[in-house]
Amino acid sequence: MDLAAPVVPLDAAFFADPHALYARLRVEEPVARAVTPLGMPVWLVTRYDDVREALADPRLAKDSEGFARVLASKPLPPEAQSVFAQELNRHLLSTDPPDHTRLRKLVSRAFTVRAIAALRPRIEAIAGRLADRMAAGPAEVDLIDAFAFPLPMGVICELLGVPDAERTSFRRWSNTLLSSEGAVDERTAAGMSMAVYLTDLVAQKRAHPADDVLSGIVAASEDADRLSADETVSMAFLLLVAGHETTVNLIGNGVLALLRRPDRLAELRADPGLVPAAVEEFLRFDGPVNLATYRHTTAPVEIGGAPIPAGEVVLVSLASANRDPAQFADPDELDLHREAGHLAFGHGIHHCLGAPLARLEGEVAFRTLLGRFPDLALAVDPAELTWRQSILMRGLTRLPVRLR
Ligand code: HEM
Repeated sequence: MDLAAPVVPLDAAFFADPHALYARLRVEEPVARAVTPLGMPVWLVTRYDDVREALADPRLAKDSEGFARVLASKPLPPEAQSVFAQELNRHLLSTDPPDHTRLRKLVSRAFTVRAIAALRPRIEAIAGRLADRMAAGPAEVDLIDAFAFPLPMGVICELLGVPDAERTSFRRWSNTLLSSEGAVDERTAAGMSMAVYLTDLVAQKRAHPADDVLSGIVAASEDADRLSADETVSMAFLLLVAGHETTVNLIGNGVLALLRRPDRLAELRADPGLVPAAVEEFLRFDGPVNLATYRHTTAPVEIGGAPIPAGEVVLVSLASANRDPAQFADPDELDLHREAGHLAFGHGIHHCLGAPLARLEGEVAFRTLLGRFPDLALAVDPAELTWRQSILMRGLTRLPVRLR
């Protein structure tokens, strides 16, 4: 690492095309100093081997108090301060062992491959209803709005037992919270609305338990040693946000990658048995999560030969690892026959809990779209597409397509 090297700005050009920057950094500055759009100084890790190693290193911690202390030690602009209320910040991605181990054990039963496989008919029914609605509507639609968002949102809301009527406000708060821009007041208000709403939902599940995952979590929380009130609300928050903010991008980015490559699209149409392998390749090629969630160093560490002091924020790039030529031959090529090995779901103890669900939703989504819309095509020049202003997520704001 070269301390004289300029600090890399994670700015609008980076949102539009992070892959160009990553290709340069992997060669020139694989562990670089960078600054987020809100002014937070971070270390950015871009090579596959270093990313894997960093994600498995217990000295790169996630506990929210430690993170708050690290932020407090830096001269940060007010916008860069955390806007997450305490009651939303006691979840799997803001805890380390032993709290993390206890919390993960409580929910992991609901997300095993077997438990998730049983949901296939319900996911197919939701996808089928959305496709029916699209087929009956205009020939041109925004695929994010018509399909990529409502599918995972419908699935996670059904799984957790969230009423239909509340989904639109939930999406708005969630988008505001994950945005890398915007006034701190606006993001704090979205966090508060979300906390109030989820606290009320948890109270409803306590009063009237139903056959859903959230009622199960609430029942477990009755035993105070196992789950505190904040932990229960935080768990609902994480599952709802992680359950839809990511899979929407798997569908959106995957459809875009495919529509830009008519040869690959034809290959997949000719052999639908390739869909699960194609989903893995969409996850690698342009996965939903650009940078893994924030970590901070609790001790001095060395990553890829670069010394990072204690008390620093580290961002680990999954998107960059997944395009590292040291790991993947011809990484910028969409190839539906690769061996897995991508890091789109992370690595180590925080490896995505929802991966079996996301894979199943992805498979159902692509089977439905390919089966129902044989003439699916982009309705705009790809250069006109805009990406969300979020450094952690990689996803399109809109994806206009022609259905017939
Ligand atoms: C964690 C990716 C869908 C629930 C993660 C992490 C990644 C990820 C990269 C680790 C973050 C880190 O280490 O900083 C994805 C992708 C998805 C997806 C690419 C879709 C294609 C889902 C779904 C759920 C979910 C559908 C459903 C409930 C979680 C949870 C964690 C997590 C609870 C925290 C696990 C822990 O800390 O132990 N996900 N995710 N994810 N994901 Fe997903």
